[in-house]
Amino acid sequence: MQKLNMELGERSYVITVGKGLLASADKYFDLQRKILVLTDDGVPKEYAKAIADKAKESKIITVPMGERSKSLETFGLVLCEMMNFEMGRSDALVAVGGGVVGDLGGFCASAYMRGIDFYNVPTTLLSQVDSSIGGKTAVNLGEIKNVVGAFHQPKGVLIDTDTLKTLPKRQISGGLAEAIKMAATSDAELFGKIEKEGFTEDNAEQIITAALKIKKAVVEEDERESGLRRILNFGHTLGHGIEACEELLGLYHGECVALGMIPMASGEARERILAVCKKVGLPMDYSYDLDRALSFVCHDKKCQSGTVGAIFVDEIGSFRIEKLSVSDFEKTVRAALGK
Ligand SMILES: NC(=O)c1ccc[n+]([C@@H]2O[C@H](COP(=O)([O-])OP(=O)(O)OC[C@H]3O[C@@H](n4cnc5c(N)ncnc54)[C@H](O)[C@@H]3O)[C@@H](O)[C@H]2O)c1
Repeated sequence: MQKLNMELGERSYVITVGKGLLASADKYFDLQRKILVLTDDGVPKEYAKAIADKAKESKIITVPMGERSKSLETFGLVLCEMMNFEMGRSDALVAVGGGVVGDLGGFCASAYMRGIDFYNVPTTLLSQVDSSIGGKTAVNLGEIKNVVGAFHQPKGVLIDTDTLKTLPKRQISGGLAEAIKMAATSDAELFGKIEKEGFTEDNAEQIITAALKIKKAVVEEDERESGLRRILNFGHTLGHGIEACEELLGLYHGECVALGMIPMASGEARERILAVCKKVGLPMDYSYDLDRALSFVCHDKKCQSGTVGAIFVDEIGSFRIEKLSVSDFEKTVRAALGK
């Protein structure tokens, strides 16, 4: 078992990573109060139940799985459930699931009675290595992702690697793309480990902890994403464009990020990122519509200033940030891909 302390002054919290932790969740979270457990219908029911069973008084709310639950409508429904459950300011919400319920649950907790305690129990690899820490919570507005939200740090995060046993392989690969992203910019040793060993039950705790250490350091230095935190966006600018136009084909977020990293890396670093992504099962030969993906980047409502903070990796374990106009970003991507 590994413990990491997110050091954010009065908003500090402990992140615990290990096997079989769900059964003793009350050791890590204060559950001696009303607890609303938020999950989705794709998450095995026993995970939410394990938390609810340890609480003084609990209610499990299950939303439909998928990105569509990150909506203002579901946000309102969950808040109504919290009110009907007569939760007060000293009660807490626990999200049990992937990034969708984590982002939605965190936002509900941030808003209910101007903010109540929030705990996160991430059960996808993506949420375990990335989205469960850092305090970014949000819902989508129509097709625009994460545009309404709040910074609301959890009071604690419990990562039980046993929950990955039920996660489909493709979701594991998608989550690994985020770990590879962090290793590529910040930790050559972790990158080498994934290259050599891939992701297994035996190294899961080590890989997750190493990736979390990178994100933790970035969040501690830049809690509200004014600068350094942008390195977490390596591969994401083009990745979001690919995600937007390939949504109907159902490419996962991590798969799009993996494709989005390639033109932002150069030389040997690019070869290694490509090879490790292939090794862990990411569909790197997927031929997406680059013109459409780039047009989404140009028209991204979040990119209204007309500039992109582009993250480049020239050597594994380090990065370079360049502010580029959207048209220079497009030229750079096209030149890198020879298209
Ligand atoms: N807040 C942040 O900093 C941050 C960072 C990155 C991504 N995100 C957000 O995270 C979301 C994506 O998260 P995700 O990839 O975890 O997707 P997700 O939450 O949709 O989970 C993927 C699928 O796996 C199922 N599932 C979850 N745990 C399972 C388990 N243990 N066994 C079997 N099935 C399981 C879910 O029901 C769902 O169908 C996006 O909305 C993205 O915007 C947020």
